[in-house]
Amino acid sequence: MPEAVFPPPRRILLGPGPSDVHPRVLAALAQPLVGHLDPAFIALMDETKALLRRVFQTTNELTIPISGTGSAGLEACIVNLVEPGDEVVIGVNGVFGTRLAEVAARAGASVVPAEAPWGEAVPEETLAAALARTRRPKLVVVVHAETSTGVWQPLEGASRLAHEAGALFVVDCVTSLAGCPVEIDRLAIDAAYSGTQKCLSCPPGLSPVTFGPKAIGVLRTRTRPVQSWYLDLTMLEKYWGEERVYHHTAPISMNYALYEALRLVVEEGLEERFRRHRLHHTALVAGLEALGLEMAVAPAHRLWMLNSVRIPDGVDDLALRRALLAEDQIEIGGGLGPLKGKIWRIGLMGQSSTAANVRALLGALERLLPRHGLRVAAGAGRAAAERVLAAAGGAARAS
Ligand SMILES: Cc1ncc(COP(=O)(O)O)c(C=O)c1O
Repeated sequence: MPEAVFPPPRRILLGPGPSDVHPRVLAALAQPLVGHLDPAFIALMDETKALLRRVFQTTNELTIPISGTGSAGLEACIVNLVEPGDEVVIGVNGVFGTRLAEVAARAGASVVPAEAPWGEAVPEETLAAALARTRRPKLVVVVHAETSTGVWQPLEGASRLAHEAGALFVVDCVTSLAGCPVEIDRLAIDAAYSGTQKCLSCPPGLSPVTFGPKAIGVLRTRTRPVQSWYLDLTMLEKYWGEERVYHHTAPISMNYALYEALRLVVEEGLEERFRRHRLHHTALVAGLEALGLEMAVAPAHRLWMLNSVRIPDGVDDLALRRALLAEDQIEIGGGLGPLKGKIWRIGLMGQSSTAANVRALLGALERLLPRHGLRVAAGAGRAAAERVLAAAGGAARAS
């Protein structure tokens, strides 16, 4: 038996998640346990719900963290709202739309995919065409921030189309929440789920979900019980609501961590947090382009928290990422599915979205790319990023 606890290396997490975690969140994880029905824990649950409502920008009472990672929230939204035979339109333009379609099909839904190429948003016309192939669509589901490609999905048109068709509008906000606006009430989103390890900068392990009045109406009028006992919101709401009925033992320490992570978000302020994510994205893109690299997503649909960049010809994807990790302690992500070996996915999420990280990554790439035969002008990437950062600093001082 080794004598010491596992000593993790100190990394800079600039991949598709998890992101770096604030020391206050790590400290919260190390606090002594209380029971999951302790009055102190119940008070923390209530405050967590209130904080989640602020971050989701909603007044939805049923806004709670599901025990499990983002996929648990995904599955919870599907299995609570779908009954066998229901028609469900799903935007599929990457790994997570594909996963949604698979989960919905397993729940017995008749899935109508609204497909777009990986690296592009799903156009409104494609969603409209998919809806036209249905008779009584129950849900329209889209992925707000497709982490597998770096694509931002506009929500307003999709919400309108869903409601015109009489369907609920459901959104995957795993990567977008707390990094860019996720306006549940303003956009009439009926149900949404997120994850803790992206822009909330908490370890993976909980999945915040929010259900609005129409989604709750669907839940209440189901003809058969929810297929998953563990994810059944009709039972979970009794633990998170007034009744406090035991359902499963809540992961106490993870809830401490989420509470602290949400407090950090609210202390910073949502607008300021979005501004920070946008600024560091803009600086990084300027730096990457100055190095001669090409972004994989069109400017209008780029995420601020996940930057996809094409791997230049002749560069060995794995070798470069290994060197980045070994020499600079920086993790970035590779491509998935059809984009494997074609793109890098650079996360600037939550705690990881800093000017220092942008500088560190650009400096490392300037050093590593020439090893693969790529000519880069020394210092060009960092200089371009610095110009963006300085302009923002000047603008902030002037305002
Ligand atoms: C957009 C999106 N949806 C769902 C998930 C699934 O979350 P998890 O891996 O935490 O189960 C992820 C994870 O990366 C994601 O990025």
